[in-house]
Amino acid sequence: MQTLTSNWEVSALVRQWQRDGERIGFVPTMGNLHEGHLRLVKAAQQNTDRVVVSIYVNPMQFAPHEDLTNYPRTLDKDLQKLTALNVELVFTPSDEVMYPEGNTGCSYVEVPAQLTEGLEGAYRQHHFRGVATVVTKLFNIVAPDVAVFGEKDFQQLLVIQQMVKDFNLPIEIMGEPTIREGDGLALSSRNQYLSKQERVIAPKLYEVLSETRERILMQNMDLTDLEQAAIMQLEQQGFTPDYVAIREVATLAEPDNPTDLLVILAAARLGQTRLIDNLRV
Ligand code: PAF
Repeated sequence: MQTLTSNWEVSALVRQWQRDGERIGFVPTMGNLHEGHLRLVKAAQQNTDRVVVSIYVNPMQFAPHEDLTNYPRTLDKDLQKLTALNVELVFTPSDEVMYPEGNTGCSYVEVPAQLTEGLEGAYRQHHFRGVATVVTKLFNIVAPDVAVFGEKDFQQLLVIQQMVKDFNLPIEIMGEPTIREGDGLALSSRNQYLSKQERVIAPKLYEVLSETRERILMQNMDLTDLEQAAIMQLEQQGFTPDYVAIREVATLAEPDNPTDLLVILAAARLGQTRLIDNLRV
């Protein structure tokens, strides 16, 4: 496995592989890799000839009050895990490589507000601008044929799909299902911030989503009432919910047709930790 920090070297190596007729898979990450990330890598390996993983904690997608400085950085362990999976190339750029002029005052990628300003966007100002910008830069450097993202960050996945469509990027975007602990808690790098007591409560988020799904399927309650009921349940369990929203799966718009395919999305804080999860109906 090669680990490169220079964008030019990554581009040159991947272009060489593509000239040799190989299809390239790409998994962008912020490191602190867990089984969820490794499943994305495996999915990329099943669909392409060689896989590139990037590890970069992107400052542009963190709001000033968020955990950029404390975000867990575990490069050595991450590289061991990727070596064990026979990943061909890991790109670990510095801030200077990604944002030579700094990450303010440079060009941004803005995906339309209807997809980026609600839900996560309402609580994390400019978050999706930061994600769309860094993913565009990474896509330009790596130029993969396929890129794999987790459905855990469902809104992010739709934002990337929209961006790829709008800019005619020749990249297939694959979404992979959320990986959960045995008790239902969605795997996330932020789970390690949970205290022992909070870790016991955390799976209730998935329980509430699952119950809400059952109630939607019974079709005897108004969706707004169901959202409110879920928020109350989370509060009773000790969460401070930011939102529980039942949305149309393809656009995240509020559903207006009983036959719409739906997704329930939630974000809630437990102490200092903010958890997000979603469940399709
Ligand atoms: O999902 C993540 O880890 C990040 O948002 C991503 C896609 C690597 C961009 O920094």
